Amino acid sequence: MSVDRPRPLVAGNWKMNGLKASTKVLAEIQADYGPGLWRHVDLVVCPPAPLTAIFALAAVGTRIGIGGQDCHAKESGAYTGNVSAEMLVDAGATHVILGHSERRQYHGEKDADVRAKAEAAHRAGLTAIVCVGETREEREAGKTLSVVRKQLRGSIPEGSTSENLVIAYEPVWAIGTGLTPTAGDVAEVHAAIRDDLKRLVGKAEQNKVRILYGGSVKPSNAGELMAVPNVDGALVGGASLVAVDFLGIARAYSK
Ligand code: 13P
Repeated sequence: MSVDRPRPLVAGNWKMNGLKASTKVLAEIQADYGPGLWRHVDLVVCPPAPLTAIFALAAVGTRIGIGGQDCHAKESGAYTGNVSAEMLVDAGATHVILGHSERRQYHGEKDADVRAKAEAAHRAGLTAIVCVGETREEREAGKTLSVVRKQLRGSIPEGSTSENLVIAYEPVWAIGTGLTPTAGDVAEVHAAIRDDLKRLVGKAEQNKVRILYGGSVKPSNAGELMAVPNVDGALVGGASLVAVDFLGIARAYSK
């Protein structure tokens, strides 16, 4: 583990789950996010768009950040159903997940779309959590590194820094399946991402950008996954909906 390892981040992607009453879960997370944890790890919760403002208000005065799960590339206009990065900021968000495989799969988002959205996020002052990851077929065909590298090249805008960019490596086949890559496989992909960051953000920022792992992270496997070199935290789906599980993952960093 390098000495200049970035400060870890554990982010919860609530996907299409949660109602106004779910601020209760946020309160539970906050109640147990004491100095023993916040000294070691940042927490961000990304609820569905209608809950952004209420979650951000509930998180005022805490150390928990609130994020969106997507944004449009434009600031405003005739884009029915969409949410802009500026609107997320206005609602109190500090982060936004972009290019999640569910957006790429169900909404046809391509690298160029993700890049335009990341540019919008930066314009609005949000930190973009840009997701990359291979499908099972791509892994079995030995294409994991080339797929991830191509997604990175296409999705990361110029001007990205360790302040406004987080990368999340999420193998598509590990999302919601209970399957995880081996520590060795995660290490290989994260090392390749770290390597590519030199070209994408420059040598001075290369080692400061946080690279999260995502895909079936739970308290029981977080210790092993978070100990992998170049893993600077987690992007958590299902387990982030339950305060004890989300905190249990974050605790991988308090030991
Ligand atoms: P799970 O943790 O439910 O596998 O989801 C991972 C994910 O997609 C986070 O963005």
